[in-house]
This record gives sequence, C-alpha cells and structure tokens, in this order.
Amino acid sequence: DWTMENYIDMEVEKIRELVGDQKVLCALSGGVDSSVVAALIHKAIGDQLTCIFVDHGLLRKDEADSVMRTFSDGFNMNVIKVDAKDRFLGKLEGVSDPEKKRKIIGNEFIYVFDDEAAKLKDTHFLAQGTLYTDIIESGTDTAQTIKSHHNVGGLPEDMQFELIEPLNTLFKDEVRVLGSELGVPDEIVWRQPFPGPGLAIRVLGEITDQKLEIVRESDAILREEIKNAGLDRDIWQYFTVLPNIRSVGVMGDARTYDYTIGIRAVTSIDGMTSDWARIPWDVLQKISTRIVNEVDHINRVVYDVTSKPPATIEWE
Ligand code: XMP
Repeated sequence: DWTMENYIDMEVEKIRELVGDQKVLCALSGGVDSSVVAALIHKAIGDQLTCIFVDHGLLRKDEADSVMRTFSDGFNMNVIKVDAKDRFLGKLEGVSDPEKKRKIIGNEFIYVFDDEAAKLKDTHFLAQGTLYTDIIESGTDTAQTIKSHHNVGGLPEDMQFELIEPLNTLFKDEVRVLGSELGVPDEIVWRQPFPGPGLAIRVLGEITDQKLEIVRESDAILREEIKNAGLDRDIWQYFTVLPNIRSVGVMGDARTYDYTIGIRAVTSIDGMTSDWARIPWDVLQKISTRIVNEVDHINRVVYDVTSKPPATIEWE
C-alpha cells in the first residue's frame, strides 16, 4: 500500500534507471521545491548530481550561508555557490521600475546559470522542482524560469538538457512531507514564500547597498520575533519593505530625518488573495522597538493593514 517511504523507493529507482551513469544539474534556490528535488535526486544518484546556487545579493540575512550549511555540509552535496552580487547590483543600478527590476533579475539569473552550466562538461539532465500545480498555472519561482528558457531552444546544441521533474505529480503539502522524510530541515520545508527577485522588490525605487542592508536587518528582526511569538506557521508571509520616504523624528534632544520601514504580514491560502495578519499588539510593539533601536536610519515603523485585493502582498 501507499506510504511516503515506498514512494521514495520507487522514485529513486525510476531516477536511477533514467539517469544511468549520466550527470544531472539542478538550480538550487533554497526554496521548498528546488530543495526537495535536489534531496530526492541526491538520494538516488549522489555525486552524479551538481547543484548551482546563485547568490544574487538580494537574499535575506544568513540565507546563502544557511543553504550551503544544509546542502553542502549537511547532505554532502556538490553545490556550486555563485557570488553574483556585483553582477546583479551593477545591472540594477539606477533602475526604479518594478517590472524592469524583475526582468533584469530574471534574465541575469539565466545568464549566470548558463555561464556556470557551460563549465560543467557532459551534463545531460536538468532537474526541476516543477509541481503538479505549476503545470496548470505557470510558476513564479525564478529557478523555474530556467525551464521555459531551456525549452525554447535558444541555447547552443551542447547546452540542451533533458528535463527531470520528479515532483510534477505532487501538490505542495505532499512535497513538504516528502522533504521531511528525506531529511530536509523544517526551516526549509516550512519556509514562507520568497520571491525570485528577492529584496530588490522590497526596496521601493532605486536599490542601494544601504537600503538593502536596512531591509535585510529589519526583516531578520521581524522574522525572529514572529518565530519567538510562535506565529511563524500561522502567518503565510511576513517581511519588511522600505518605501522611499523619510520623515521627521526625535532622538534625545535632536531632530532626525530618516527612513520609514513598513511591516507586511498576511494570511492566505495560495497568495491569490490575502488578509492582513492580526499580530498581537505587544508583538508589534517589540518588533517596532527593536527595529528602531537596532537598524540605522529608521525612525518610524508602520504596519500595512490592507487586504489583497485591492493591495498586492508585495509593495512592488
Ligand atoms: P503579490 O505581490 O502579487 O504576490 O500579491 C503574490 C505572491 O507572489 C510572490 N511574488 C513573486 N514571486 N517572483 C516570484 O518568484 C516575483 O516577481 C514575485 N512577485 C510576487 C509574493 O512574494 C507572494 O508570495
């Protein structure tokens, strides 16, 4: 009868049969889907799998290190981490339009991935964390955009991959169970959604290192306090945004003129609609105090109390 254990044994056998002694490449983002697909394929073929993890410099605090700790150290997987921060931030310089940012990041991701993939000889397969639902609606994960790219055949002959998509019969909740069974840590299996363009769409308008730092640090505080309050599984998505406004404040005897941080926290089933999360006021109080005290250049914290629609979850 059907158990997850049997399912894993069957999938592992299928993957081994398909792959033989060939090599497989996987774009690892640290998200649920790509993590679980990497863990499954690694279980099947071990060192024949190589993962490429692109750090675009727009990840959350400690995210890149944590992905490397989990997969490179923990699973002993071949993971190539590409430090592409300068490449991405260079391309984003002076860009403030949200859709342009998305396009630049999506394209650059593919260029960086292809540059790395081209260095790996004799790789026949590309593994994708495509879910059943992604087949119905098109996925939004940046890593998934590789798929459409590699399918359009715009690549040189020697860079055509055969796709492996072992999750394409599963729903998200099944992927989480599979991930847990494979030893993928809870922090990844239960990770809140994080957009491919990352913090770039949470710094409103033009991106600078300083603004990224403000969003990254305030977001880390928010996540810590939501976890401490035991709310991390109840709130669907929660993060901070930096709108491009400054306002007057007072610190000691001095007047300040500094940035405002917005907190966005929503409950949702699938991200299509959402309501703002009723975070207890004392938790909000603690988050606000810590952000103002610990993050430079913030003198005001606001809470977004808009549902979707009419607002979107992200501010850009
Ligand atoms: P919105 O802001 O449209 O977001 O209400 C709905 C869900 O989608 C995520 N999101 C994105 N994910 N690339 C992604 O991979 C994107 O460009 C993007 N924009 C929004 C958002 O975080 C939320 O979970």
